[in-house]
Amino acid sequence: MRVRLEHVTHIYPATDESPPVQVLTDVSLEIRSGDFVVVMGASGSGKSTLLNLIGAVDRPTSGRLFLGDQETSSLPESALTMLRRQSIGFIFQFFNLIPTLNVFENVAFPLSLNGRGRGEIDGRVREVLDRVGLPHRATHFPGELAGGEMQRVAIGRAIIHRPSLILADEPTGNLDSRNGEMVLDLIRSLHDESAATVVMATHSDRAASRGDYIIHIADGQVTR
Ligand SMILES: Nc1ncnc2c1ncn2[C@@H]1O[C@H](COP(=O)(O)OP(=O)(O)OP(=O)(O)O)[C@@H](O)[C@H]1O
Ligand SMILES: [Mg+2]
Repeated sequence: MRVRLEHVTHIYPATDESPPVQVLTDVSLEIRSGDFVVVMGASGSGKSTLLNLIGAVDRPTSGRLFLGDQETSSLPESALTMLRRQSIGFIFQFFNLIPTLNVFENVAFPLSLNGRGRGEIDGRVREVLDRVGLPHRATHFPGELAGGEMQRVAIGRAIIHRPSLILADEPTGNLDSRNGEMVLDLIRSLHDESAATVVMATHSDRAASRGDYIIHIADGQVTR
């Protein structure tokens, strides 16, 4: 999936307690379909904000954002929800698994939301658990897993519906180096197998070296 930003500015509005925060200023950017892009920048520079805008979780204050040929910045919320469920996979620093669902159910969750049948879901979840190396953990709960395993479950959940865009926000930020490497290997090989576009935010040079190229955010600007 191709990603395009045209003159995007993003400002978190003021609240009763806080002034507005301008994070992106007139950013134009194109990410080609199938690219593996790494986003780097200091803490607070706007990496998560950029990922949330690309993933249609948030809307830019001004400017236009396209996923493929669709201008997401002007789509109604219902259409964005459908687009996220069908085409986008999210991976987070703190895994964000649902604690009351077991591994199988966590991975199956996006397919359940998409209304797929039991048989299809069972087959696909087994395939994905094999792929992330956790076929023996299907009935365990997130609280019973190590961090690296939780992230592999979360990656399974992110790819179960074969998204054309994968957004990873510091996916190794909460892992030791060995598990971090394992997760990066997995994301890289899933990218190479699927030709999905991957946008990954990270603080780690090691992680950044796994992408095709790096974009930097500082002072509201994105540079390549
Ligand atoms: N909902 C919000 N309301 C107001 N300000 C926000 C909100 N979310 C983020 N910000 C501010 O926007 C700026 C960018 O935040 P963002 O989370 O995108 O940074 P980041 O680069 O992901 O940082 P980190 O590396 O720490 O994850 C920060 O100054 C942050 O405080
Ligand atoms: Mg962040």
